[in-house]
Amino acid sequence: MEKTLVLVKPDGVAKGLTGEIIARFERRGLTVAALKMLKLSPAKAESHYAEHKGKPFFDQLVAFITSGPIVAMVIGGENAVKTVRAMMGPTNPADAAPGTVRGDFALSIGQNIIHGSDSPASAAREIEIYFTPDEIVQ
Ligand code: RTP
Ligand code: MG
Repeated sequence: MEKTLVLVKPDGVAKGLTGEIIARFERRGLTVAALKMLKLSPAKAESHYAEHKGKPFFDQLVAFITSGPIVAMVIGGENAVKTVRAMMGPTNPADAAPGTVRGDFALSIGQNIIHGSDSPASAAREIEIYFTPDEIVQ
């Protein structure tokens, strides 16, 4: 079963969208294989977003993702990575179609509600930041 890491970002948790987002994945046929709420440390945030280190938005991104509680989950199923990305919509909510999470619930690129891994390799790397193997239901 393919797995991907999803985060409901601080804005999504604050807006009370966690249940809505999980329900969308479940209705699609994807399954929740691990789930926790946490507040991310700056060190873990920098590790998660290491590919963006040095970019102009990096400091703001780390400040935002550590600004409040997030919900981390491992979502599994056939083509989970690609399917979750399609259900999220593009990075900039202004480009996101209605029916996607970002198209329905976000306006700004810096506060776009949800994260999903962009490849199976990214998923494997990111899942390890948030979960130990025994926390993931096979
Ligand atoms: P994410 O990693 O959070 O799921 O988002 P993504 O793959 O759709 O986008 P990515 O390129 O990985 O960027 C990570 C986050 O950085 C913020 N960003 N701001 N101001 C900008 O030009 C800019 N570009 C990216 C976004 O909040 C994005 O989700
Ligand atoms: Mg990304």
